Amino acid sequence: MEKIVVNGGVPLCGSVEISGSKNAALPIIYACVLVQDKCIIENVPNIIDIQRSFEILRGMGARIRTVDKTTVEIDCSNVVCGSSDYSLVRRLRGSYYLLGAELGRFGKAKVAYPGGCDFGVRPIDQHIKGFEALGATVTTDGGYVEMTTEGGKLNPANIYFDMSTVGATLNVMIASVMTDGLTVIENAAREPHIVDCANFLNSCGANISGAGSDVIKIKGVKSLHGCAYSIIPDMIEAGSFMVAAAATGGSVRVNNIIPKHLESIVAKLEEAGVTVEEFDDAISVSVNGPLKNTKVKTLPYPGFPTDMHPQMCALLCMAEGSSVINESIYDNRFRYVEELKRMGANIKVEGRIVTIEGGTPLSAAPLIAVDLRGGIAVLIAALTCKGKSEISEINLIERGYDDIVGKLRGLGADIKKIIVPDPLMLKRAN
Ligand code: EPU
Repeated sequence: MEKIVVNGGVPLCGSVEISGSKNAALPIIYACVLVQDKCIIENVPNIIDIQRSFEILRGMGARIRTVDKTTVEIDCSNVVCGSSDYSLVRRLRGSYYLLGAELGRFGKAKVAYPGGCDFGVRPIDQHIKGFEALGATVTTDGGYVEMTTEGGKLNPANIYFDMSTVGATLNVMIASVMTDGLTVIENAAREPHIVDCANFLNSCGANISGAGSDVIKIKGVKSLHGCAYSIIPDMIEAGSFMVAAAATGGSVRVNNIIPKHLESIVAKLEEAGVTVEEFDDAISVSVNGPLKNTKVKTLPYPGFPTDMHPQMCALLCMAEGSSVINESIYDNRFRYVEELKRMGANIKVEGRIVTIEGGTPLSAAPLIAVDLRGGIAVLIAALTCKGKSEISEINLIERGYDDIVGKLRGLGADIKKIIVPDPLMLKRAN
């Protein structure tokens, strides 16, 4: 079992390179199933969710070759429909893009029900509604989602989503790329990773317009060809380093980013008294006075991202006075709060409202990463306080952060990874 050990209280200083976006890389990698040719994908983050996705695709017959540290060549010509490993698929959320990819290529699909971080109920009814509109018959039995179509063909459709959903927008876009006719998605999600996946598919010969707005039009093409494509930088990784810099009272330049994607995060950091300077492909963050209490509401893009909620909460623990975070996307993204309370944070959760009485320094403690963003929030909190904090379950952080320990050490943090015997294994051995 691995743990992260942090001796906090050191302001982070210097510059950090941001990796490719997890939530763009996942749909793009699974969308390669549509392409019976080689795709070269650049700026791929080295994180557990991507490694697991490669394992899933390799198990289905894909050939994936590492070109260099951040580039892979993916050839899904020989992928077998319905052959993905059940236990691997259920370990991550992004694997649900296999549903759209199998349906789009084979006119049928069989994939385990997806997993992912535990934020309460995470239904896939909108994905199913979209697939059914395209002509699929969908069943969900025995832990699998299974789809069939008449004659192995989809029909074009007009689909209106009941809420802004990243996953269902991408899944229907992926499924309908080779469907004869015009498919229209209304009330589509507008996140930068949706634009990125559309750009990738268009580079393979697809005809998608409107991605980034709430109406996406997909004109079906006969087939797709290989391409070389570079994934956009990870806005949430960038935002997490910006918050870590501010929370530790440091000064950090975050490189290899698209500042436009970070507008809502920058706005809230400035409201909280953080100094932010923007460059063409970098942002620098520093703290030149006391942090201010503020109010945050998470919303679909271009609003403040739910995936930055726990990190923002860790930061607002440092701001004098009462701050409020209103979580509007998930019912239960609050498990990290108990960990921050162990460090002395004064936080109350009522329904979806988190109230933070900030301004009292936190203290080091043994901690657990409860999920991906909750884990990084706890790590940010540990970086702010003097003394040794040990964080376990760090594989949950490594699901989405590329070389987090190395990057933080590069900014001057006193941090290391240690291997400790798993107490459960020890008990069994005795
Ligand atoms: N929803 C439904 N039915 C559906 C789909 C979604 O009710 O069929 C609800 C969800 O329960 C949620 C809301 O709609 O309340 C938004 O869900 P969305 O579909 O947008 O989320 P997702 O596709 O499951 C992706 C990211 C999440 C990120 C959300 C929101 C991936 C693999 N996951 O999830 O990322 O929080 O969009 O931006 O792209 C993370 O990276 O830490 C993470 C959790």
